[in-house]
Amino acid sequence: MRILFVCLGNICRSPTAEGVLRQKLADAGLGQRFEVASAGTGDWHVGKAPDTRTQAAARKRGYDLSAQRAQQVDAEDFFSRDLILAMDRANLAHLERMRPEGSPARLALFLEFTGSTVAEVPDPYYGGEDGFSEVLDLIEAGCDTLVAEYGGQR
Ligand code: 4NP
Repeated sequence: MRILFVCLGNICRSPTAEGVLRQKLADAGLGQRFEVASAGTGDWHVGKAPDTRTQAAARKRGYDLSAQRAQQVDAEDFFSRDLILAMDRANLAHLERMRPEGSPARLALFLEFTGSTVAEVPDPYYGGEDGFSEVLDLIEAGCDTLVAEYGGQR
């Protein structure tokens, strides 16, 4: 199963989701069955490592995001991924607009898809430290659900 997480810049939320899900899948012995990636709807940070605040917050909980590099989502992703999960409604709307007609990927809001009562992972970029740990709380819970519900699928 090929999963793509999408946020705006691909330096805060979606790289966190990529790193957390990858780690949780590896811990559950399911790493081989999934291909996990992330991308941004915007192109400002393409080629850059995740934001230093994002990396620091993730590192505190045991996730290493340092090898990731930002990329921008493109039309091909709607054919090469099974599931595209947006971090907020604005990015979901952007993805719906760019989606090629007839493309097979399933597209959803990440937290809604994982049954959370909170719909969006808030953008932490212009806020303080608390925002980064809130992002991790929401993403860890969502990824736990993904591993539990989709762990048996290919
Ligand atoms: P992300 O956060 O979408 O979670 O990666 C942001 C990163 C950069 C910007 C906005 C949000 N920016 O405006 O550059």
